[in-house]
Amino acid sequence: MTPRDYATVLQLTDLHLFAEPHGRFNDIDTRASFLQVVMHVRQHYPNPDVILVTGDLAHDGKPETYQFIADALKSFSAPVYCVLGNHDNPDAARRVYPLQPISMDDHCLLHDWHILLLAADHAPMPGGDRVEVSEAALHRLSTLIREYPKKWALIATHYNLPDHQDRGVAVEVCNHREVMHQLEQHPSIKLVISGHVHQEFLVAQHGICYLSTPATGYQSTSKSGRVTGEAPGYRWINLYPNGRFESDVRRVTFLAS
Ligand SMILES: [Fe+2]
Repeated sequence: MTPRDYATVLQLTDLHLFAEPHGRFNDIDTRASFLQVVMHVRQHYPNPDVILVTGDLAHDGKPETYQFIADALKSFSAPVYCVLGNHDNPDAARRVYPLQPISMDDHCLLHDWHILLLAADHAPMPGGDRVEVSEAALHRLSTLIREYPKKWALIATHYNLPDHQDRGVAVEVCNHREVMHQLEQHPSIKLVISGHVHQEFLVAQHGICYLSTPATGYQSTSKSGRVTGEAPGYRWINLYPNGRFESDVRRVTFLAS
């Protein structure tokens, strides 16, 4: 336990990196932007307890891109857990990870808290992709939570779940209401963090706080798909022993070349 009375979790999301050093996505050099964010984290939060990466790590799906991300995060002493997004290549990610400091474990304990990573199955289909959190994934989540009844729970997932004004994107979890209903059955779940929409939002509903976090690369409004000029960012979360938490987003001014 650190001398402070809370644990600090950092969330990075939607890196969209390429093996090619100056690969661009929506006109952002995503590697340069990611490295600026990592540098900012190192300066301001040098000793996080856990780092969570919530999907869309490698835009090109190449093993060397997943390797690059592990190398970039190696200087933190904290373990890194990741959940994959719709742009990831699960086969390549699982070929490379686990690789210090990145684990593919789907949960970890952090003092009085239980951190769980919830994956969704993504299947590109004619007429639109289908994304679903499987029965098996929900069952696994419930089982893990019941194994540690005295822990507060934080869920990290790629896709945003609640309805909000800008939720609509091309790739959504089709059973999101059912997933949220299942989560609400566990009073220990205090917050759910996600990425995917490349923007920040907060929805508090039935005792759960749903937080979406800006990408480390480009930002967008999801309904229109319009890329905004907002700076890349990340999220910090402090978790207290009594189930209280505090969190905010940091934006990193990045002079793109
Ligand atoms: Fe993304």
